[in-house]
Amino acid sequence: MNTTFQLKDGSPYTVRRAKEGDLEKLIQVLLEVARDDEFTSVTYPEAESQILASEERLKNLLQNEDEHFIYLIGLVDDEIIGFCDIHIGKKTRTKHVAEFGRSVVKKWRRTWAGKFLQLSAIEFVRNLKTIEKISLNISSNNTSSLKSCQSNGFKLEAGRKKEIRLGAQNYADLLTYVLYL
Ligand SMILES: CC(C)(COP(=O)(O)OP(=O)(O)OC[C@H]1O[C@@H](n2cnc3c(N)ncnc32)[C@H](O)[C@@H]1OP(=O)(O)O)[C@@H](O)C(=O)NCCC(=O)NCCS
Repeated sequence: MNTTFQLKDGSPYTVRRAKEGDLEKLIQVLLEVARDDEFTSVTYPEAESQILASEERLKNLLQNEDEHFIYLIGLVDDEIIGFCDIHIGKKTRTKHVAEFGRSVVKKWRRTWAGKFLQLSAIEFVRNLKTIEKISLNISSNNTSSLKSCQSNGFKLEAGRKKEIRLGAQNYADLLTYVLYL
């Protein structure tokens, strides 16, 4: 798959599956968004060591086109500005479900970069013909992520209270948004 869209400012924007040759740039983008991201359950130092430790695994995923863990990347002028990782259940009882994670580097947020990545990921799993449901887990304070999934038709299905501690007495809930195909 290789689809071209136009961002809000008219910039051509390509979304395609990441390949082995994208590994180094993808790692840099994973680190960059982790550094700027206040909305996930992982803090930056934890995310950094996780990302660096998983480099070899990521290389294998991209090399072998793993069918259960797929990275789509969004590019402007050959620069990766965002990604969507798609996890597909491996077990008999979960292989009808896909989970998405998505992030856009800070300066390209609110440009529709996230929306087009998400739309491409929906199309990708729809074409597999085996996926019935897509799930996203989102922190209740993450307005952009909530708005972006709502704009692609995801609906709130469940929530877990106080799953993320933001400060001494400050918590966020973890919300599950879903789209049935
Ligand atoms: C979540 C994220 C991927 C969304 O991507 P984005 O490129 O910033 O969002 P888009 O420009 O595609 O916006 C999609 C829609 O949501 C709306 N939206 C996005 N952020 C918004 C905000 N903060 N307030 C109001 N509306 C917002 C947009 O206006 C747009 O609506 P439209 O389709 O009616 O025009 C991006 O903000 C991001 O990377 N955030 C940090 C990492 C993160 O939190 N990832 C998700 C973890 S669950």
